Amino acid sequence: MQTKHFIDDPTHLVQTSLASLTLTNPSLAFDSQNKIVYRRPTKEQQETPKVSIITGGGSGHEPAFAGFVGKGFVTAGVAGTIFASPNTLQVQRAIMSRVDTRRGVFVITFNYTGDVLNFGLAAEKAKAAGIDTEFYAIGDDVGVGREKGGKVGRRGIGGSILVLKIICALAEAGGSLSEVYNLAKKVAGNLVSVGASMEHVHVPGREVPDPNSDEIIPTEEIEIGMGIHNEPGSHRVSATLPDLVSTMLKQLLDPNDQDRHYVDITKDDKVVLLINNLGGVSNLEIGGIVAEVHEQLKKNWEIVPVRVIAGTFITSLNGLGFSVSLLKLGDTGLGAGKSMLELLDAPAEAFGWSAAVRTETWNADNTAIMDQTADTAKDMKASNLSIDPKQTHTVLKAGLDKMIAAEAEITKFDTIVGDGDCGTGLKRGAEAVLKELSSGDLPTDAVSFVNKIVPVVEHTMDGTSGALFSIYLNALVHGLREQDSTSSKQMDSKTWAAALKSALQALGKYTPAVPGDRTIMDALTPFIDTLASSGNVKKAAQAARDGAEKTKTMKASLGRAVYVGGESEWMGKIPDPGAWGLAEMLDGLAGAC
Ligand SMILES: *[C@@H]1O[C@H](CO)[C@@H](O)[C@H](O)[C@H]1NC(C)=O
Ligand SMILES: *[C@@H]1O[C@H](CO)[C@@H](O)[C@H](O)[C@H]1NC(C)=O
Repeated sequence: MQTKHFIDDPTHLVQTSLASLTLTNPSLAFDSQNKIVYRRPTKEQQETPKVSIITGGGSGHEPAFAGFVGKGFVTAGVAGTIFASPNTLQVQRAIMSRVDTRRGVFVITFNYTGDVLNFGLAAEKAKAAGIDTEFYAIGDDVGVGREKGGKVGRRGIGGSILVLKIICALAEAGGSLSEVYNLAKKVAGNLVSVGASMEHVHVPGREVPDPNSDEIIPTEEIEIGMGIHNEPGSHRVSATLPDLVSTMLKQLLDPNDQDRHYVDITKDDKVVLLINNLGGVSNLEIGGIVAEVHEQLKKNWEIVPVRVIAGTFITSLNGLGFSVSLLKLGDTGLGAGKSMLELLDAPAEAFGWSAAVRTETWNADNTAIMDQTADTAKDMKASNLSIDPKQTHTVLKAGLDKMIAAEAEITKFDTIVGDGDCGTGLKRGAEAVLKELSSGDLPTDAVSFVNKIVPVVEHTMDGTSGALFSIYLNALVHGLREQDSTSSKQMDSKTWAAALKSALQALGKYTPAVPGDRTIMDALTPFIDTLASSGNVKKAAQAARDGAEKTKTMKASLGRAVYVGGESEWMGKIPDPGAWGLAEMLDGLAGAC
């Protein structure tokens, strides 16, 4: 259980969090005494009044509820303290003085006792005062079946946001109070949700629970059906994600489950899938969960949702859990432009709503893919820089073979001063290049020759050294083009040196490393400089070796080696593994020239 918080005082926390909504959306106002966030009056609303929608509940479910206040969504949100309903007076204040009542007020909450009592009573009082008011409590959870739930009934969890979204869009479109009320019942009646959580959450300001208490879910267990206020679910399991999702989908869809079957959903129905993050699951993991749920729905239930909405809508503070909801799209009976799907897709300017994809995009063909590789290859013009492909292959092979042979030594070095993968990375790249060169005809021009190697290195090497080699080789292609001439020209060491040097300058745009920093540059730079000045490959390879030797006494100032401790142990003995590997290769290459 995560018990550290940036803000520990729960009162200050709720107040500032609500106030922040007026900063991120200037069309909202905040009544801090009553913890009401509401839409500022506008000329449009004054001229064409609409049904006002008031919702709310305990704090700790952000962005619910005040985060859904905005044009096209909720009119006012009333907040309680963390996990506790606001009181009747707060809600009354919202109905009577913070919203337009001319076309009526719809008060809608989740089905929790405190919310039902306080919002319900406030609605009754408003009615008594002559304001056209309706009240409804959404229950979409199937987690705690009928038997166990007893009188408590279905709670409102993640899927409830779909009800809110749809009815608010209807109100925005001019729907009447009775239309909005009836649609809320209809949508909620077609909705099922179930949650699962790995941990209870800690409420800021409260005591940290005893590690042996039932509030601590053992590391290997997941609680299925947990509510949004830490309330227990149906049971705890130790399961993989696929098993967990399979159980959850059964709870939502199995028509033979007497205890939980609330809505008939079959493969012939149009369905919206919503995955709600309870607040503490990484976005990376939510993505994996969405993919798993989608796949199982298709494979095991033949259901392909017409909309997939994933995000953080109704949280349990930073709850390490999620819920899966399925909404069966039914007929609203309201005519054109007011189907459940159209109302769901309708734009809404609320900070908490993050369904970014528009109707037209969902309805488009969506099968085309972008694949221009063929064209790029065609654009790769050969040059007039001719080489002897057989001899170039022989020389390169000698270099790469030598580097491969040094793998164990490089690995040993890198285990001490790096993360141990340099040797295998170089070897993997070198082997792939050799394989590529041994298959098919080799080009007779230098640009095409290097170009043949580029994608191989890009695909087989990774990490920092992979990126550096890839950038360097791409820049080398460009460097060679700079040397290209209008008539055929035989490559010689001077021309190579000029191209290599130009590539080195290009590489400098992406890495600040220079000789002395204990990187591959300590071997590469002296090689190129010496080749340019002397035209002698053997001398140049010796300069690279000297450079690599010198790294033994250098402190790392760039790259991963900076973070590796124990410098006193290896200083003076261990060279930079990358520089060493390159020196080995250049050495082998010079030997074959
Ligand atoms: C809400 O809960 C009550 C009991 O607390 C239950 O009787 C009712 O059926 C529930 N409502 C819905 C829509 O599930
Ligand atoms: C290569 O030489 C041919 C014929 O000499 C010429 O037409 C072509 O433009 C040259 N290519 C480049 C890139 O200069």
